[in-house]
Amino acid sequence: MNELVLIIDFGGQYKQLIARRVRECNVYCEIISYTTPLEEIRRRAPKGIILTGGPNSVYDPASPTAPAELFSLGIPVLGICYGSQLMAYKLGGDVKTAPVSEYGHTQVAIDAPDSAIFGGVSLETLTWMSHTDYIAAVPEGFRVTAHTDHCPVAAMENENQKLYAVQFHPEVSHTKEGTKMLRHFVLDVCGCGGDWEMSSFAENTIRELREKIGDNHVILGLSGGVDSSVAAALLSRAIGKQLHCVFVDHGLMRKDEGDEVEAIFGPGGMFDLNFTRVNAQERFFMQLMGESDPESKRKVIGAVFPQVFGDEARKVKGVVRYIAQGTIYPDVVESGDGKTSDVIKSHHNVGGLPIALVRELGFDEKPIEPLRMLFKDEVRKVGLELGIPAELVYRQPFPGPGLGVRIIGEITPAKVKIVQEADFIFRDELHKAGVDADLGQYFAALSNMRSVGVMGDHRTYGLAVVLRAVLTSDFMTAEAAEIPWSVLQRCMNRIINEVPGVNRVLYDITSKPPGTIELE
Ligand code: XMP
Repeated sequence: MNELVLIIDFGGQYKQLIARRVRECNVYCEIISYTTPLEEIRRRAPKGIILTGGPNSVYDPASPTAPAELFSLGIPVLGICYGSQLMAYKLGGDVKTAPVSEYGHTQVAIDAPDSAIFGGVSLETLTWMSHTDYIAAVPEGFRVTAHTDHCPVAAMENENQKLYAVQFHPEVSHTKEGTKMLRHFVLDVCGCGGDWEMSSFAENTIRELREKIGDNHVILGLSGGVDSSVAAALLSRAIGKQLHCVFVDHGLMRKDEGDEVEAIFGPGGMFDLNFTRVNAQERFFMQLMGESDPESKRKVIGAVFPQVFGDEARKVKGVVRYIAQGTIYPDVVESGDGKTSDVIKSHHNVGGLPIALVRELGFDEKPIEPLRMLFKDEVRKVGLELGIPAELVYRQPFPGPGLGVRIIGEITPAKVKIVQEADFIFRDELHKAGVDADLGQYFAALSNMRSVGVMGDHRTYGLAVVLRAVLTSDFMTAEAAEIPWSVLQRCMNRIINEVPGVNRVLYDITSKPPGTIELE
């Protein structure tokens, strides 16, 4: 990885957005904590540094800070919001607290159209502000390059030392010309080539994995989801048969999904690796017997999985040294609370194995995480790059406990079969109707409601299938999608005709909140 921009996190809520925007300029970047030692920053030799915003005031002794030497490393720095105030404060400028905050859409007047970061930007430009403190006087050697009605220094710079600061947030889309400014900074000021691409990411990562792993062997739990599949593909390209993939089929996958995973990663598939499919359906069903509470079912599935995976891991004791996992960037970066970012969510668990077992088996405690720095859509691009079929790469999110949380009440093999068939029909019809592309998540679930119906001359007393399709961008809120009536009717007809035991089909119109996306 030769060209790097480091984003120093001071607790700003938009740090991931900054990273996105920089990567959209085809420049590789990483977010690091403000506690990262200067020595480490120097060692990584970034082409540029961006300081994020943050909720604090530079005068509070408990606030995250940076040494003044950061600004004299000879590396261009762009300070954003709190980062701009920190730059001013550390270099001898004056930061003051305003009686009222400046928040929201704000017109900024550009005073220095010749500034390297404002090239081609309108003289009056709409930005997004969110601050109370402001720079009242710039440090020596700096000039004011923009202002607003309430903010005398909306931007400042020291061109000779390549230090730039903006009070507004160029990374949010409300700042109309923000991407242009960030592009100017990383390409023109920092001199990055803007040639970082997913293909070079894949190439570099494969090389680095090879160097790190050497002759050692690696175990990876493959779930059939995008992240672990792409991790497997990268590792396979790097170390081939030294990779041992374990695919635990808990019997709660969608119809045919287990076979699809095996077709891609198993013998005769697309990748050179050791593949083990553990058909653990019975083990899961046995343990789930009598469990009908959603959380207890999740707990059982969550407990049986590492047992099954652990049994496989024991078989390669002495052979395997590393565990790999498909952690991606949003898993790594904590939601902006100003603490160090570099924390993995679940430290009691490495790659799906309990840490005690990892130690017992003598595996390295630090997992190999080749996708650690990528956003989801970037992971997808790498997947396509490595030849994983688009159907898998663009697979919709699927919960870890699988159909276990889409069957209300006790799980039985017969109910799993019903929900798999109904779900298959629903997805098939939505796809044929061309309405699946915009949906966040869509699936069939099985209620525990039995009701009376008639089929021919017979009275039936069958189960009700629930169809659910939601629009969502963040999965925190969602609304039911308006599926055309004719499509829903076709699904209803097919499900009742083709899936034995079902005599009623319901469409769930509940939003989230108050509902959840899954039914349990
Ligand atoms: P809810 O149902 O809470 O779901 O609105 C939000 C998102 O999370 C997924 N989900 C899960 N994922 N284990 C998972 O790995 C779970 O237990 C689980 N429950 C819900 C759900 O599919 C949706 O994308």
